[in-house]
Amino acid sequence: MAGDTTAPRARLLLVSGSTRGASSNTAALRTAAGLSPDCVGAVLYDRIADLPAFGPDAEEPPAVADWRTQQAGANAVLFCTPEYAGTLPGSFKNALDWTVGGSDLYGKPVAWINVAAPNRGAGATATLRTVLGYVGAVVIEEACIHLPVGRDAIGADGTVQDQGVRDGLVRVLTVIRDHLAATT
Ligand SMILES: Cc1cc2nc3c(=O)[nH]c(=O)nc-3n(C[C@H](O)[C@H](O)[C@H](O)COP(=O)(O)O)c2cc1C
Repeated sequence: MAGDTTAPRARLLLVSGSTRGASSNTAALRTAAGLSPDCVGAVLYDRIADLPAFGPDAEEPPAVADWRTQQAGANAVLFCTPEYAGTLPGSFKNALDWTVGGSDLYGKPVAWINVAAPNRGAGATATLRTVLGYVGAVVIEEACIHLPVGRDAIGADGTVQDQGVRDGLVRVLTVIRDHLAATT
């Protein structure tokens, strides 16, 4: 687990679908970054608000180039997004639209955590599955879990303190690590 000084052998990109400052989705991923196995270097991407509105004719500004580079350089991607109006937040869908037509996520192992309250958030994950299918990502089904994170579970440092959630995150990270070990 975290603390080992050897060079990471794999890179896991953690992508938050929320732009909210005190986001529970971003907090979950920030926590996951600190719990990542020694052999996996986890990097949080929480900059979807920097991306301009996608258009097929749009120039690719530096923020988009960075977004693409982050994805291309990752061995796997773990998403965590809120549900807005039964689907993905527009800003997150916009970020994903920038990847459609590219190959950055093609064949890439991906998973998601749903941190919404029990029985919530399924519309977001369903849409995410659809979009990831369009870009040819490979879903690690066993790592896609519902792990509710209450706002009171987030500490002053912006990480989730609840041990049950932390244990769940470790399980997700372990499944991803094992998938990468078996396939790369
Ligand atoms: C515009 C808007 C629409 C929302 N729509 C839904 C919804 O359809 N279903 C749901 O379960 N929650 C919905 N919510 C609640 C958010 O998913 C919830 O507040 C979530 O914790 C936000 O994630 P964050 O803390 O990472 O920002 C909505 C919130 C907002 C602001």
